[in-house]
Amino acid sequence: MKIVVGITGGIAAYKAVSVVRAFVLAGHSVQVIATDAALRFVGKPTLEAISRNPVYTELYEGVAEVRHVALGQAADLIVVAPATANFLAQLAGGFAPDLLGNTILASRAPVVVAPAMHTEMWQNAATQTNVATLEARGVTIVGPAIGQLTGNDAGPGRMSEPDDIVAAALVVVVASGDLVGRRILVTAGGTREPLDPVRFIGNRSSGKQGVAIALAAAARGASVTLIGANLEVEVPATIAVTHVGTTAELAAAVAAAVPGADAVIMAAAVADYRPETVAAAKIKKELQGDTLKLTLVKNPDILHDVSATKTVGQVVIGFAAETETDPDALLALGRAKIARKGCDFLVVNSVGWTTGFATDGNEVRILNAAGDIVGEASGSKRAVANRILDVLL
Ligand SMILES: Cc1cc2nc3c(=O)[nH]c(=O)nc-3n(C[C@H](O)[C@H](O)[C@H](O)COP(=O)(O)O)c2cc1C
Repeated sequence: MKIVVGITGGIAAYKAVSVVRAFVLAGHSVQVIATDAALRFVGKPTLEAISRNPVYTELYEGVAEVRHVALGQAADLIVVAPATANFLAQLAGGFAPDLLGNTILASRAPVVVAPAMHTEMWQNAATQTNVATLEARGVTIVGPAIGQLTGNDAGPGRMSEPDDIVAAALVVVVASGDLVGRRILVTAGGTREPLDPVRFIGNRSSGKQGVAIALAAAARGASVTLIGANLEVEVPATIAVTHVGTTAELAAAVAAAVPGADAVIMAAAVADYRPETVAAAKIKKELQGDTLKLTLVKNPDILHDVSATKTVGQVVIGFAAETETDPDALLALGRAKIARKGCDFLVVNSVGWTTGFATDGNEVRILNAAGDIVGEASGSKRAVANRILDVLL
């Protein structure tokens, strides 16, 4: 998610560093816009290092890229912490004297502000009227908390703790997401078919793309069920995961979860075959000689079966990972696969020794049932995930 963090000129600006850090560590792209006054309280180098982006302040810089509106237009969320009494008045009045004011007016993203000031300033009728105006317009006000202020005094006006601001902001995004009320089933990872108690036939899928889809869908408000096959990537506790090992286990978990889903996105790499028999004890080379023959039998075709039984309104998205490097030939394979499988969309990507699996980026084309390209994406797996969800919508 692209988050603009606005920082205005109060003592609590030093705590904004923790807000920025929490968003960055959660995988979001953060653009800090600080007012002139804010930079009297917290250093630009600190904010640039923590946000991993330049910090913008000047309204008349970056004019060629129309920065005064571009930042707001691109933002998924704007968080202002701390928000001074002056800033609250400015926003309530619709004034745009600086880059932060312009950015907010030019944005349709949800706005969350965390006021911080002395109790008298907070309780001043002007401030209270401004806050009421902003709330009536849909701005989310987090805090302020009651506690120790800058001097010896204490009372309402202390900025809420950074973790509370971050949590409240993410709730706002989810609640206003375009997948609110949708139930999405995602499969991720790669199935493994055991040969004996210690060995398996598997594939190099890490689960990164599927997990990115699950996280992106949850961030857009969907209720997500993730079925993970041997995931090599951590899943935040906010996503419920059913862990499976083999294709048969995946098929059973999918069959149980499909009936409640509005959409099924099958990103897991599934073994097409499994050993006919699984040895009860470790296969010993001393007993096998120079060659070992394995008999493999076909696994259930989960994508085909889910597509064949989907209900009206249910959308099924499959994946095709192919080693074909010629783009046209790759598309031809994708078109043949979607015709065979009967799903609504197929995400086609090229995989190889160094591409596709276990990497942080991906490049995909999305085909509809007729074989037309209806979407393309390249970049981070999260960006690709969001493009797939756009097509789903
Ligand atoms: C030491 C000091 C601390 C301040 N702390 C706050 C504060 O916590 N909250 C606030 O609303 N204003 C505070 N102010 C006043 C703002 O800095 C001032 O209103 C400024 O114009 C705000 O600009 P901005 O809203 O564009 O950042 C403080 C001023 C000084 C000198």
